[in-house]
Amino acid sequence: MAAAARLLFCCLLIFSMYVGVLYAATNAKDAAALRSLKDEWTNTPPSWDSSGDPCTSWDGIVCDNSSRVTSLELSSMGLTGKMSGDIGQLSELLSLDLSNNLGLTGTISPQLGNLKKLAILMLSGCSFMGSIPSELGSLPELTFLALNFNNLNGEIPPSIGQLAKLTWLDLSDNRLTGQIPFATSISPTPGLNQLKNARHFHFSNNQLSGSIPEQLFGPDMSLIHLLLDGNQLSGTIPTSLASVQTLEVLRLDRNRLTKSVPSLNNLTNLINMHLANNQLSGLLPDLTGMNSLTYLDLSNNTFDLTGSSAWFSTLQSVATLVIEQGSFNGAVPQEIFSLPQIQQVFMKNNAFIELNLSANIGDKLQLVDLQNNGIVQLELGTEFTKTLMLFGNPVCSNNPNQIYCQLQQEAKPYSTSLTLCGMAKCDSDHLKLNPESCTCSYPYAGILYFVAPSSLDLSNATLFRSLETSLTVSLGLSVSLQNLSLNNENNLQMQLELFPSDDKYFSRSEIRTVASALGRRTYKAPSELGLYYFRPSEYIFDDGGRRVLTTGSIAGIVTGSAVLVLMLAALAVYAVRQKRRAEQAMSMSNPFASWTTGGRDTGGAPQLKGARWFSYEEVKKCTTNFSESNQIGSGGYGKVYKGVLSDGVVVAVKRSERGSMQGGTEFKTEIELLSRVHHKNLVGLVGFCFDQGEQMLVYEFMANGTLRESLSGKSGIQLDWMRRIRVALGSARGLAYLHELAHPPIIHRDVKSTNILLDDNLTAKVADFGLSKLVCDVSKGHVSTQVKGTLPIEKGKYIVREVRIAMDKNDDAHYGLNDKIDPAIKNSHDQLIGFHRFLELAMQCVEEAAADRPSTSEIVKTLEALLQAEGVNTSSTSGSSSTSSSLTEFGHGNGVRQHPYDDSLAMKDGAESESFGFDNRYALVSVVEPK
Ligand SMILES: *[C@@H]1O[C@H](CO)[C@@H](O)[C@H](O)[C@H]1NC(C)=O
Ligand SMILES: *[C@@H]1O[C@H](CO)[C@@H](O)[C@H](O)[C@H]1NC(C)=O
Ligand SMILES: *[C@@H]1O[C@H](CO)[C@@H](O)[C@H](O)[C@H]1NC(C)=O
Ligand SMILES: *[C@@H]1O[C@H](CO)[C@@H](O)[C@H](O)[C@H]1NC(C)=O
Ligand SMILES: *[C@@H]1O[C@H](CO)[C@@H](O)[C@H](O)[C@H]1NC(C)=O
Ligand SMILES: *[C@@H]1O[C@H](CO)[C@@H](O)[C@H](O)[C@H]1NC(C)=O
Repeated sequence: MAAAARLLFCCLLIFSMYVGVLYAATNAKDAAALRSLKDEWTNTPPSWDSSGDPCTSWDGIVCDNSSRVTSLELSSMGLTGKMSGDIGQLSELLSLDLSNNLGLTGTISPQLGNLKKLAILMLSGCSFMGSIPSELGSLPELTFLALNFNNLNGEIPPSIGQLAKLTWLDLSDNRLTGQIPFATSISPTPGLNQLKNARHFHFSNNQLSGSIPEQLFGPDMSLIHLLLDGNQLSGTIPTSLASVQTLEVLRLDRNRLTKSVPSLNNLTNLINMHLANNQLSGLLPDLTGMNSLTYLDLSNNTFDLTGSSAWFSTLQSVATLVIEQGSFNGAVPQEIFSLPQIQQVFMKNNAFIELNLSANIGDKLQLVDLQNNGIVQLELGTEFTKTLMLFGNPVCSNNPNQIYCQLQQEAKPYSTSLTLCGMAKCDSDHLKLNPESCTCSYPYAGILYFVAPSSLDLSNATLFRSLETSLTVSLGLSVSLQNLSLNNENNLQMQLELFPSDDKYFSRSEIRTVASALGRRTYKAPSELGLYYFRPSEYIFDDGGRRVLTTGSIAGIVTGSAVLVLMLAALAVYAVRQKRRAEQAMSMSNPFASWTTGGRDTGGAPQLKGARWFSYEEVKKCTTNFSESNQIGSGGYGKVYKGVLSDGVVVAVKRSERGSMQGGTEFKTEIELLSRVHHKNLVGLVGFCFDQGEQMLVYEFMANGTLRESLSGKSGIQLDWMRRIRVALGSARGLAYLHELAHPPIIHRDVKSTNILLDDNLTAKVADFGLSKLVCDVSKGHVSTQVKGTLPIEKGKYIVREVRIAMDKNDDAHYGLNDKIDPAIKNSHDQLIGFHRFLELAMQCVEEAAADRPSTSEIVKTLEALLQAEGVNTSSTSGSSSTSSSLTEFGHGNGVRQHPYDDSLAMKDGAESESFGFDNRYALVSVVEPK
């Protein structure tokens, strides 16, 4: 009978899930539109083949609480096919991203014009052809429009000028022709000058012609990037350009612009100016007052340098000056070399005859390239010790052996070092070596290039390491940069590889997350590099693409369904007989239903691997009404109880207090992650309860307690020293990684046996744990769940490295970490006694190789010794110092533990919740959140 009751319950649960799904069924019109899109495309995500409901089970689709599709995110999915006009039926769509699907061809459907709520439209990096439909001009909410890297032709539709909210307009790298449309007060046609909110006009590499309209610019515009390079624009540079004082990047290079450059001195925010490869003439423009100008390229024009050298000395910010392919003669203006920020001067292929590099050389100057000039007179002082290139000058016919007269190799471009990995190799074309872990995996790779860098120094390791670090920290992934070069369009380009953190492959959702960060530019590169583009190669997913239902599986489904129907029938009979019980069971609120119908779409029922759902009643019963005698820990998040399930399994239940509950989505994501994690060193998730307004996690109970308990329990150490060290270093945001080891979010049974960094697939699992972060940008209608990958590991490694560098053994008081120590610790002076020894121990715990890290028992012994040396009684409970070599000798946890540390010292970021190790992921999440 009991078995039958369990079957009943189980079936009811399935049934109620089914009801939940029905309730959340995608709006019929949207579902039809999605099916029509799917029919046109191949390589849709495998989940699109399932019979499931699109809103809840299809990859890349987000719906709102009334099951309307609000977001379609399919960047880099390998889609091929055409865009069905039915896309215009998705009338609640806020965001549409089909970028980086090279197989998408055909025209851009004019039906997109029906998507009146659309805010983001990204179709870049596909193979769309034909003209840009003028209907795109009727999307009143559009803020981000990226059509770059397609085969679009025809003219820019003037209607684009009606997109009053547009901030980002990218039409680069197409075959667009004709003039740039502008509106006038007398004509009814709209134009781009109406886009007062636009920050970005990116029109590079098209075939735009005619002049750049004077009317295009005005003081009420807010452009920061104006990219018109690589077109066929003629005429003069409009004087009105000077009124757009917000401008930071101006690229007019590779056009047919003529005559003299108007006064641009008003552009005091301009950082990067490219006027190269035009037919500009007249005096070199006087740039006095452009105090932000860092990069200036005036090459290959027909300027007259006469008398213009005086204002060079006013270019206080210029680091890179490029004036190649001119006919400049006379002396190289000496002022250039004494500019305070100047790093590189490129002036080859001119007709200079004199060079004086004898005095007043700016200390940042690295390179002077004057190859192929007419230099006959050279004065070279000892002050200039950096690279000088004079190959091809008359002066060299007399001094051919001087280094500066030889054809010099440019400094070797930076590339991410793989030397740590020794001889390791990957055995297939697409597998690449992750430079951090030295394992082989399939990276998300492609060409990354910067269209407005401040420096052309490809060998600057500082700069490119900062790029690596920022990518690693922002995306939480290992990166590799290779093959840095300057391309034909004067862009700094490189091959970028981003490595999956916990697997050989990226999942589709990870790819979407990364593609979106790079496509929407939510990831910001270091300011010296500035605006970037990423052109990924197609990613080969683990599943290899579309799954086809085989006859066998169809037969299976049919049989399964038949069995289910029979079961349900039997159940119905049984249910009638057991009506009261059934009603009782039904009254338990269904967490899946509330997830799909709650305040916000959460993407359906959690996908659990082994973890089960508990009702509130069930948990209550197993913890004897959450009785105090069952309580084994507490903290800011709530309390932890010991419980015994009906089958005798002992569990620990973490019950969130009202104030510390997460949103349903976060909770669901967390459960999904926790349920995926299985490792001998980790405490497993048994299940969860999301019922009657409660959020509880049910874990396997660890009779032996945690490392922390071992330390503070049997061995009797009163203070939580690891924590103390972390708190001490807290203001370095810190030691997130150290913290992770010392307070592993998933409890390590032994530090030594757990190689956190380099081997063993535990690495990623540890990192995964609790690091899911819900990114909810309601204003853009975009909700996605990001798994932050190895972010804490990478950042932690970085922090550990910083601390290692900062450590100064000669500084008795603070060990060189004065500014990194949490003031709470620093100011309570007695707490710092012996600080450095704890720090040393902590640093041993974060050694890269497991073999170099102390075992738990060694840690305990060392801590005891340290504490005894400080006169702290370490044996208040055990009465003897521990000499054990294995944790099992530490005995059992001893009931309710006192909070081991005075909360007044606790940091805001969740540290107060640490009396029980189960909750540390919250602390971690807040610690590692990038700024
Ligand atoms: C330069 O800016 C001033 C105000 O800062 C403005 O009066 C002037 O018209 C601007 N010059 C040009 C050419 O736009
Ligand atoms: C100079 O610019 C013109 C376009 O104005 C271009 O055709 C030519 O190739 C350029 N020359 C060099 C050497 O870059
Ligand atoms: C080179 O520059 C230095 C410092 O400006 C000056 O003293 C010297 O006379 C110059 N030499 C020639 C040949 O002009
Ligand atoms: C390298 O780049 C960094 C960061 O932009 C800069 O501070 C440094 O001066 C550069 N080094 C050289 C040698 O140019
Ligand atoms: C870098 O360039 C070399 C030679 O051009 C090429 O063989 C190699 O595949 C490139 N590496 C990457 C990562 O693109
Ligand atoms: C659906 O969400 C909107 C805002 O996103 C909210 O105003 C509305 O009340 C929600 N409706 C339901 C039924 O929850």
